[in-house]
Amino acid sequence: MENYNYNNVWKEGIFDGKVCLITGGSGTICRQQAAALMKLGCSVSIIGRDQKQVDEVVKLLGKIGNKNAKVIGLGGCDVRSIDSMVSVAGKTVEKLGKIDYVICGAAGNFMSDFNHMSANAFKTVVDIDLLGSFNTVKACYPQLIKNKGSVIFVSATLHYYGVPFQSHVGAAKAGIDALSNALAVEFGPIGVRCNCIAPGPIGGTEGFNKLVPNKENFESKIPLQRVGRTSDIANATVFLFSDAAEWITGTVMIVDGGFWHMGNFNTYDAYPNVLRNKLLEKPKL
Ligand SMILES: NC(=O)c1ccc[n+]([C@@H]2O[C@H](COP(=O)([O-])OP(=O)(O)OC[C@H]3O[C@@H](n4cnc5c(N)ncnc54)[C@H](OP(=O)(O)O)[C@@H]3O)[C@@H](O)[C@H]2O)c1
Repeated sequence: MENYNYNNVWKEGIFDGKVCLITGGSGTICRQQAAALMKLGCSVSIIGRDQKQVDEVVKLLGKIGNKNAKVIGLGGCDVRSIDSMVSVAGKTVEKLGKIDYVICGAAGNFMSDFNHMSANAFKTVVDIDLLGSFNTVKACYPQLIKNKGSVIFVSATLHYYGVPFQSHVGAAKAGIDALSNALAVEFGPIGVRCNCIAPGPIGGTEGFNKLVPNKENFESKIPLQRVGRTSDIANATVFLFSDAAEWITGTVMIVDGGFWHMGNFNTYDAYPNVLRNKLLEKPKL
């Protein structure tokens, strides 16, 4: 985990007394969002399936050293189950008192061309990313109304153009953007904000390693000439939850160094020859 250097930008204590529930909080990006929020006073509830991984991240976050910010870890939770989400939302309120902020960050990803992706594999990703985001907001909704809360969905830029081997993720993330926009409009009058963060390629993540196998010269293809850091996403998170964003809802904040404007995903050595061969193999259902 990077050392989150907020001192030059953010003011200590801006989230004192706040509580954030984070699905995918045990993952690489969302743990950094948790770290930033904790540094600034927010208590966090880390949600994931693997209890061991959740425990490890809770231990790391426990070293942040802000006495105003607590951390709890709730493993064994699958975002695809509404009952599971209702249970962890309840436990979060029981242990931390309330929920003000929600980050829907849990996601599944693997590389697959259409021909090799079973209907079940496609459904799994849509269920974790899209239905899981819906379930998360659903479970936290009473708390969001009560505390005039704020939601951040973690999306992507993959659906802005056609990215090979990522049709499942692109479809799921497009759904998340649509869900966020609709909820922003529905929830605005009751004082609840909804926004998306769309990360570009974030170094050190499993997704980045899978999507960009050939890293040579990759950074030069990004307008701002470097890959993303988890702290870039943490900074966007702090801004969107803070009072500085009190009139911002229904936006997708793209945090990608300008990469998606390049207009193509020119890093795929596998395109088109490997892909063409895969698409012409015996179809998988
Ligand atoms: N990495 C990138 O460059 C990149 C780029 C664009 C967008 N994003 C988005 O950023 C977010 C975080 O990405 P990351 O790279 O940090 O991912 P990651 O390290 O793979 O973390 C994924 C997290 O989601 C949890 N999760 C997966 N399936 C779940 C389920 N069914 N129920 C509950 N939790 C589940 C995982 O924990 P368990 O497995 O223990 O459940 C883990 O905590 C994702 O939404 C991803 O799509 C990432």
